[in-house]
Amino acid sequence: MKNLLKLMTAASTASLLMLSCAGTKSDKPVYLDENQPIEARIEDALSRMTLEEKVKILHAQSKFSSAGVPRLGIPELWTTDGPHGIRPEVFWDKWKQAGWTNDSCVAFPALTCLAATWNEEMSALYGKSIGEEARFREKDVLLGPGVNIYRTPLNGRNFEYMGEDPFLASVMVVPYIQEVQKNGVAVCVKHYALNNQESLRHEYDAVVDDRTLNEIYLPAFKAAVQKGGAWSIMGSYNLYKGQHVCHNSYLLNDVLKGDWGFDGAVISDWGGCHDTDEAISNGLDLEFGTWTDGLTMGATNGYDAYHLANPYLERLRDGRASEDVLNEKARRVLRLIFRTAMRTDKPFGSLCSPEHYAAARQIGGEGIVLLKNEAGVLPISGDAKKILVVGENAVKMMTVGGGSSSLKVQREVSPLDGIRAAAGEGVEVMYERGYVGDISGKYNGVVTGQDLSESRSAAELIADACAKAAEADVVIFVGGLNKSSHQDCEDSDRFSLELPYNQDAVISALAAVNPSLAVVIVSGNAVAMPWVDDVNAIVEAWYGGSEAGNALADVLFGKVNPSGKLPFTFPARLEDNGAHALGAYDPHSTVAKYSEGIFVGYRWAQKQGIKPLFAFGHGLSYTDFLYSDAVLDKNTMGGNGKINVTAKVTNVGAVSGKEVVQLYISDEECSVERPVMELKGFKKVALEPGESKDVTFAIEPEMLKFYDAEKGEWTLEKGRFTVCIGSSSEDIRCKASFDYEEDR
Ligand code: GLC
Repeated sequence: MKNLLKLMTAASTASLLMLSCAGTKSDKPVYLDENQPIEARIEDALSRMTLEEKVKILHAQSKFSSAGVPRLGIPELWTTDGPHGIRPEVFWDKWKQAGWTNDSCVAFPALTCLAATWNEEMSALYGKSIGEEARFREKDVLLGPGVNIYRTPLNGRNFEYMGEDPFLASVMVVPYIQEVQKNGVAVCVKHYALNNQESLRHEYDAVVDDRTLNEIYLPAFKAAVQKGGAWSIMGSYNLYKGQHVCHNSYLLNDVLKGDWGFDGAVISDWGGCHDTDEAISNGLDLEFGTWTDGLTMGATNGYDAYHLANPYLERLRDGRASEDVLNEKARRVLRLIFRTAMRTDKPFGSLCSPEHYAAARQIGGEGIVLLKNEAGVLPISGDAKKILVVGENAVKMMTVGGGSSSLKVQREVSPLDGIRAAAGEGVEVMYERGYVGDISGKYNGVVTGQDLSESRSAAELIADACAKAAEADVVIFVGGLNKSSHQDCEDSDRFSLELPYNQDAVISALAAVNPSLAVVIVSGNAVAMPWVDDVNAIVEAWYGGSEAGNALADVLFGKVNPSGKLPFTFPARLEDNGAHALGAYDPHSTVAKYSEGIFVGYRWAQKQGIKPLFAFGHGLSYTDFLYSDAVLDKNTMGGNGKINVTAKVTNVGAVSGKEVVQLYISDEECSVERPVMELKGFKKVALEPGESKDVTFAIEPEMLKFYDAEKGEWTLEKGRFTVCIGSSSEDIRCKASFDYEEDR
């Protein structure tokens, strides 16, 4: 009913607008006149389109494009992967690389790295930069960013997302969206919703209770729509309540378009549409990739056979489908076209510019997390004259592979390259392979050109590395995961938490030889660290993109003081993770029962009293920060009132640095079980040595609510709340409590 009312309003508004515009001077048709309101232009275009033309714009015409209306001069729509950079061109109707020579790009750090900056300015810089690259390549829709919540450390695509906490992801996704769209390029926030694993991704039915759905898995998408203003959303492959999400009436019609007021277009994931009648009725607007897995295989020239193509036309002609619903779909696609391809006032964008490389390096440097640093291993001392770098990930290209986010970069600076470039005159930087991981150098037709072949045995590799380690002033091991199948890669999950390729043995052997060892993990996921007590320094470097090596070297040599914080928990063991503790993650089952409910990540660890290997929000600095007591300006809150809480943070070290001051809130008395605490605010502050800053958070009633599944609404119960301010979820520096006085 709500939708029909909206429809009638739009139509009447449009007719009024057209009447009012009738007398305007312009002899241009309204839909072509950029001085006219976009809604009037949409209605005018719609009124001129035939039934066939309306259907034609609702589905793909090639691997990555959909039709416009040539007769009316309305251009086609071009989409492109991915969240970290602009994918190289493929053939019109094949996944095969087109072999262009002008479609190399800058690879920006993976989104886990962006999330780890906990800095909205970095998100804005990221969106601006990648939006300019998409614009320059004349793409209208960027298929990203991804904000699926990190439920299991085994999910192959966590590297494309923003971690385990809905608040962090909800804040960090917004500037990215706003800045991309300023280029006249739409984002397509994905994968809505509940795509939290890759195993059986096209088939599994996510079974989630309403409270968990609303408190954990929807918030980042809701923020993308209501605060980010996303112009398109990508439906996910999986099912929810037995219905494929690409045509799921509840998630698309009721929640996304109804409750949230989303006015953009819902685009299917590639091959996510499986049923014509559901696609028509349940909120899908633009069908892509049918009969393909979105990666390689797919039916050719099947476009007229798409669900929203001839089968839809037949139903419209024989009366089984209403033209009102068709018009609503066409409106949304036209709105996407008018916001992008039809806009002539767009900037021109830029590609592979110095600014984009600088942005990639800056974001990478801000996102790298210093997990442990003892015995003064880091930053590398200026006295170090012999540096040994060990590990395949010190040299292996990481911008290739991983699935649809794979790129063809203009250049990629490896960790070894970056360390060599940063080491001063007279410093020898040696290299040893240490282990052999994945020596393939080709993905999706993009060839790295690297020859990673190796003839030595594992034992010989370790022996050679240890021999050099014995004579080095400092050893940097660079390992972790990679973008191969069952590592950090789309369409497959990892099999375990452990590091692959015998890396644990290499690390332990090096630690025994030289205590000045720093272990650098390149990954998009948590990994087990059985050697954690034997290693003095540990860094999570993420997938840093084209400037990975320079960003890492900036941190290792102290040019950049690390300020990254973990966007997800590193559990000591897989069974310390909620889904795994309850046996609720089964890669072989087509039913994914989210039995852990809202207790995801640190919410589970704190509920169970489990000490994580490294906590959500953890990250060290080369300096130290002192927190004062938390001071509230009131001790009670009522109605829509708010309370301000302030803590003074002081840099008590010798170098300047940035600290992410985190605000968690505990509900001390509630009728339902709530997490021990939940992230509800954060601020990143830069402080010179000796400098102090007051950091103030405004606490509002919305931050105190939980989702009452029985009432179907967000609820606030009176009672005592405690504000926890700290440097991580496990490093709370000060607390203060207040009472909320009434039920709402
Ligand atoms: C893939 C992915 C999606 C991507 C699309 C196009 O299967 O799931 O993220 O944008 O297909 O490549």
